[in-house]
Amino acid sequence: MSARYPDLLVAEAAASLPVHVVLKDGALDGTGGAATVAWARAHEFTGKAGQLLVLPGPDGSVAGALFGAGEAFDPGTARALAVRLPAGVWRLEGVAGADAESAALAFALGGYRFDRYRARPDAGRPLLVAPKGMDIPAALRIVAACALAREMVDTPAADMGPLQIETIAREIAGESGATIVVTEGEALLEANYPAIHAVGRAASPARQPRLIEIGWNLDKTDRPLVALVGKGVVFDSGGLNIKGGAGMRNMKKDMGGAAHALALGRLVMQSNLPVRLVVLVAAVENAISADAFRPGDILNSRKGLTIEIGNTDAEGRLVLADALCRAGEHAPDLTLDFATLTGAARIALGPDLPPLYTDDDALAAALLEAGRAVGDPLWRMPLWSGYRAAIDSDLADVRNDSAAWAQAGSVTAALFLQKFAPETGVWAHMDIFAWNPRARPGWPEGGAAQAMRACHAMLVRRFSTAR
Ligand code: BES
Ligand code: MN
Ligand code: ZN
Repeated sequence: MSARYPDLLVAEAAASLPVHVVLKDGALDGTGGAATVAWARAHEFTGKAGQLLVLPGPDGSVAGALFGAGEAFDPGTARALAVRLPAGVWRLEGVAGADAESAALAFALGGYRFDRYRARPDAGRPLLVAPKGMDIPAALRIVAACALAREMVDTPAADMGPLQIETIAREIAGESGATIVVTEGEALLEANYPAIHAVGRAASPARQPRLIEIGWNLDKTDRPLVALVGKGVVFDSGGLNIKGGAGMRNMKKDMGGAAHALALGRLVMQSNLPVRLVVLVAAVENAISADAFRPGDILNSRKGLTIEIGNTDAEGRLVLADALCRAGEHAPDLTLDFATLTGAARIALGPDLPPLYTDDDALAAALLEAGRAVGDPLWRMPLWSGYRAAIDSDLADVRNDSAAWAQAGSVTAALFLQKFAPETGVWAHMDIFAWNPRARPGWPEGGAAQAMRACHAMLVRRFSTAR
């Protein structure tokens, strides 16, 4: 799987139709004359943000379109154009510079659709002429990375098990000449990944747990080392602390962190960023069987810290504990982890704004700023040391659920991860939702890439020698 859907940005076209971006109550001069003004009035086109009006030519063909920008044009709204415009080649008029490039990227992101399980002919679709000077291949790499993450999340758990994630990882590694090591099943115990094994061992034999490790340019020791870590729970039933029906319904998406780590890793390699890269993905199914780990069990971890299981549904932090510890063995300069870790994150910030945790103020500022610049927002949350006591265990070094008094479930989960995070360099954790629950044109309900473009932009700024 590598997101096979058409490239929606083109460099130039012999003929293209204009989409005129019009401010609220803005003048329509230059959009087609008196006939257009009359047509716009007849359709009550006011330039309200997101309003779209297709313009007819004299012969009834499509001649162009008006697109409302509201008080100020938000380039992100161009996502809708990829869905709402008639098939054809289009160009944006009335937008320039960085906004035009952002709008073109948004258009391409908006064209994603998940049709793997639908037998229907691919109808023609709108394409957009990219603004002059835009690096189209670079933009399409970003779009493809987002599409890969979304497609992996959208794919049902039956077809996106640990093996399928491994297959995608092998493909990604192969494309860029990276090394890949997969430690699977009982071998996890021999290699000392006890927490990953415990969480995943209840799955059927074909879906055994595994740790996937990609390494790229590791011999270029003068380069900074970036580690990307992802939670790859291919389905989270909750384990013996089984989830209710509503809570389980969307748990195919619980490998969203792994999808993000792999897609961002591919993007870093394709962009040829001058770094060394390690991508670590723990791919497991949190299943129920006679062999499932239990509430009250005490697990060992790679780090040597023992973990009392208060709740088998707090499984993501367990597999990340071993994966983060492994990342630390590479002495990374920068570690980013992505995980659909807690329901509490969504309660705190809703589906669209992923919590960011890091103790490094400069990294936080860089990520927030990059997120603003590329329209992929994050919100910083505290690694509040006052709540550390909530994950103390009476019997073990730490517990995987937190005492009820602390309440802030996303924060206490992040504090748990912090105990296992690399001690070298800086570390940031993103508790992503990886899902859009609210369907709008250009934003279909389903898998969502979150914080990935922000992370990529941050990495490019931090490590690019060219900039
Ligand atoms: N994968 C879930 C978190 C989740 C739930 C993310 C819904 C997005 C939407 C995670 O493994 C989980 O079940 N977390 C529990 C932890 C609790 C048992 C301490 C949670 O957040 O309720
Ligand atoms: Mn869970
Ligand atoms: Zn989970």
